[in-house]
Amino acid sequence: MTNQYAVVLAAGQGTRMKSKLYKVLHPVCGKPMVEHVVEQIESLNMNEIITIVGHGAEKVKERLVDRSKFVMQEEQLGTAHAVLQAKSLLENKEGVTLVICGDTPLIQDTTIEALMKYHHEKRAKATILTTTIEDPTGYGRIIRDDLGIVGKIVEEKDASEQEKRVTEINTGTYCFDNQVLFDALSKVSNDNAQGEYYLPDVIKILKDADEVVAAYRIDDFEESLGVNDRIALAEAGKIMRKRINEKHMRAGVTLANPESIYIDAGVVIGQDTVIESNVTLRGKTTIGEDCIITSGTDCTNAEIGDRVWIRTSEIEDSKVGNDVQIGPYAHLRPESDIHDHVKIGNYVETKKAVVGEGTKLPHFIYMGDAEIGKNVNVGCGSISVNYDGKNKHKTIIGDNVFIGCNSNLIAPVTIHSNTYVAAGSTITEDVPEEALAIARTRQTNKEGYMSKMNFVK
Ligand code: UD1
Ligand code: CA
Repeated sequence: MTNQYAVVLAAGQGTRMKSKLYKVLHPVCGKPMVEHVVEQIESLNMNEIITIVGHGAEKVKERLVDRSKFVMQEEQLGTAHAVLQAKSLLENKEGVTLVICGDTPLIQDTTIEALMKYHHEKRAKATILTTTIEDPTGYGRIIRDDLGIVGKIVEEKDASEQEKRVTEINTGTYCFDNQVLFDALSKVSNDNAQGEYYLPDVIKILKDADEVVAAYRIDDFEESLGVNDRIALAEAGKIMRKRINEKHMRAGVTLANPESIYIDAGVVIGQDTVIESNVTLRGKTTIGEDCIITSGTDCTNAEIGDRVWIRTSEIEDSKVGNDVQIGPYAHLRPESDIHDHVKIGNYVETKKAVVGEGTKLPHFIYMGDAEIGKNVNVGCGSISVNYDGKNKHKTIIGDNVFIGCNSNLIAPVTIHSNTYVAAGSTITEDVPEEALAIARTRQTNKEGYMSKMNFVK
């Protein structure tokens, strides 16, 4: 097997994005574009992946960590100059180098594999991945001679009117014989409309040296979409979303109105789960089997068990067990850990809260910095008073506790197991096991008061 190397171009500023965020870090379905690209290459068993970084280098490195080597391109003088930065790492190695742009997030491993296979079959020194599109504006054009043999690539800004009419474009992905590539790169000049060192110029240089150059054309333009501005970013998101949704549907997930459902790459969903319109599942969210997620639900890094029913709610960085009901309009804030058979009803908010098995928080409740045991019932309007204006304090509730409606549990406080808190209590002291706590003023009835005051006619 020949050695295979990959160079990912990711140093460009991305001026056309008009963004403070480095272009290749813009997410498509929750994942930076460059990570999508690297992920596809990873599945192809490369000997080495080298990412060329420039502006925002640290952030790209943070994201990819040890999945790639990194080479710095101090000044972004063009794509040929970018590849040249990997010279010391690659020029003495025998094999094939794949060059790919970090801003083409939709490219798939199967296509790259086919490109490399074609490159070997044709015994080419360079093979370009091309496609044909209706509106080729902005892309480099593939210029073929009368026999259909590729002669060169011309960038939009350097193209003649006739060349601009060519609809076959350079996708920005290529295979090169390694040594031939670095040899040719040293001959690239920046004598063009943009004053840049263009990688596509290598094609003409190789042709002039009578080397074999091939072009592998794919039908699917979508895969080669290069994201240079926010319009293309939205387009890439739409295509990726469709791919993700179809993958889940094929795996046995029901998506009602899939066009309105946003599922990030990497989200896992179990069989026979039903997801209704306008649901967003972000980050590392995982959802078990036989769940129902209704319209408007938004989950970020949520770990949800089986048979969970989530109605129009928001869940962030939290865990939910099996057979749980949530919502409508509940908000599980970070570090909520909801055990099996729990009911979190409408307008309930939790934060850093463990809720034990079988416990019910049916309506209008706030539990923050709380540890709640099993089979507890927290009455409507009850809250853990966890914040004194400076510090957060903990509320601990044991098993089999009944908290009456509208109770304030002033933390730090422990309500031990098998206790009862009377409705309307403001609990400031621990409640011992088996006790009933009443912490409210007694009611006084003033007999005949209304008629004395002539209120009643
Ligand atoms: C490039 C190709 C064009 C092709 C298109 C496909 C060139 C000159 N043109 O154009 O033929 O049709 O991609 O999408 O190559 N980069 C660096 N360092 C640099 C410049 C760019 O690392 O000095 C990186 C960018 O971060 C980007 C990639 O190279 O990921 C492509 O650069 P970009 O400026 O987007 O090239 P295009 O104009 O899209
Ligand atoms: Ca581009």
